[in-house]
Amino acid sequence: MTETDWREELERHGQSHVLRYWDELDEDQQRHLQAQVASMDFDLVERLTHQWILSTPPPRKGAAIDAVSVIPVATPDRADAREAWEMGERALADGRVGLVLVAGGQGTRLGFEGPKGTFPIGPVSGRTLFEYHADKIKNVRRRYGRALPWYIMVGETTEEDTKAFFRSHDFFGLGEETITFFKQGMIPCIDEKGKFMLDTKATLAMNPDGHGGCIPAMFDQGILRDARERGIDTLSYFQVDNWAVKVADPFFIGYHLLRDGEISSKVKPKRDPKEPVGVFCRGDGKVRVIEYTELDIYPQLLDTDAEGRLIHYAANAAIHVLSVDFIEGVYRNYAEFPWHCSHKKIPFVDETGERIQPDSPNGYKFETFVFDALVYARHEPVMLEIEPQGEFTPTKQMTGPDSVEEARASMTRYWRGWLEAAGCTTPLEDAQIEINPEFAISKEEFVEKAQSLPWPDSGDVVIGPDGSFL
Ligand code: UTP
Repeated sequence: MTETDWREELERHGQSHVLRYWDELDEDQQRHLQAQVASMDFDLVERLTHQWILSTPPPRKGAAIDAVSVIPVATPDRADAREAWEMGERALADGRVGLVLVAGGQGTRLGFEGPKGTFPIGPVSGRTLFEYHADKIKNVRRRYGRALPWYIMVGETTEEDTKAFFRSHDFFGLGEETITFFKQGMIPCIDEKGKFMLDTKATLAMNPDGHGGCIPAMFDQGILRDARERGIDTLSYFQVDNWAVKVADPFFIGYHLLRDGEISSKVKPKRDPKEPVGVFCRGDGKVRVIEYTELDIYPQLLDTDAEGRLIHYAANAAIHVLSVDFIEGVYRNYAEFPWHCSHKKIPFVDETGERIQPDSPNGYKFETFVFDALVYARHEPVMLEIEPQGEFTPTKQMTGPDSVEEARASMTRYWRGWLEAAGCTTPLEDAQIEINPEFAISKEEFVEKAQSLPWPDSGDVVIGPDGSFL
């Protein structure tokens, strides 16, 4: 785009105010601002602005919804689960599975300086979320003798530090060639009058386009092509802040493949009816997630059955398996992909040049959610229930629900069960417990390997990758 082109584009869309400080900027700053404008999808932003901000939306009314059918927690005593396990193991051993981690979010609620993946979640070891994910991958690799390529989505704010962290840790011993970073898009924040906002005099206020941004990013940046070239047709998707996630669960992958999977999702039972989490429902013949913010228009989300159990208990655990072909199909119809809008406090530079930190919401952020891909599925998506402890410990904030504090307590309880099963004689009531997943990723594996471990007399129990006490 030439200078005339992008200036005209701003003019045409009524956004020339972002050039208010142009003459004060040095050449680098001008280039940066120009690049931000030139990379913008004006039509999309205009459509979203009209849809969400400038028009009065018609009163929203929830359509009829039904409960989704959920496969109960997979246990080897069930024939269907055994069949799924075998199928999943075969796919892993055949090298058909790759991993997708989304780590492009801003992590505002956690309030941690740096990408969330570099947060030291291990209460005693200080091991980071990225290291724990890498430890699990090493275990799965050893078991199936396959590389399990790891595709990691980063964003504008996490890219540099994430890559530097991986480099400085020598890619955690996984081999640089098995890790590919790709970058999600950004979308401008919009004020209450439908105008772009300036974060600094030289920078538009932008935010990452949501975890759903992994769909266009994987296509545009050749991730799907790379996966195919490596013989991968199935991708196991997880989020950086779930410490406990099973990065490549044979049960889940197996159910997905047995049902000709396009997209499959793990379900965790809702903690309480008003837990702020999206739930899977069926409406208009499609499975989709209804967000907790839609409770006012879907009051039936609180309905219970004759035994008092919540009907719509199937909460989204943000763990999915997606087929490579399915992602490409969604990409081809991405123009219809839904966007979500939230009212936020967005720091901005005002007309006098002062940077303002608002104390109430003053603008809008748009983003897409990967689970909206569910409505593109042609047949019934697999919904597999999990037990949250040992599989789902999202760390959104330091304390309270879905916090670091809760995650550590949950993992200590979970691993305490393994130690007890292995006959550990150390008093464990007040201990912090960490078991490196490279050593063991399941209770069965731990119990088998722990036969030869000498237990410490007391204190915290931290077992390293080779089974030694740290
Ligand atoms: P969250 O929705 O919890 O957002 O992301 P967040 O950015 O981590 O935290 P807050 O909301 O600012 O406090 C869930 C997962 O999706 C990824 C995050 O990195 C996390 O793994 N994500 C989120 C992206 O990769 N890109 C996004 O644009 C948003």
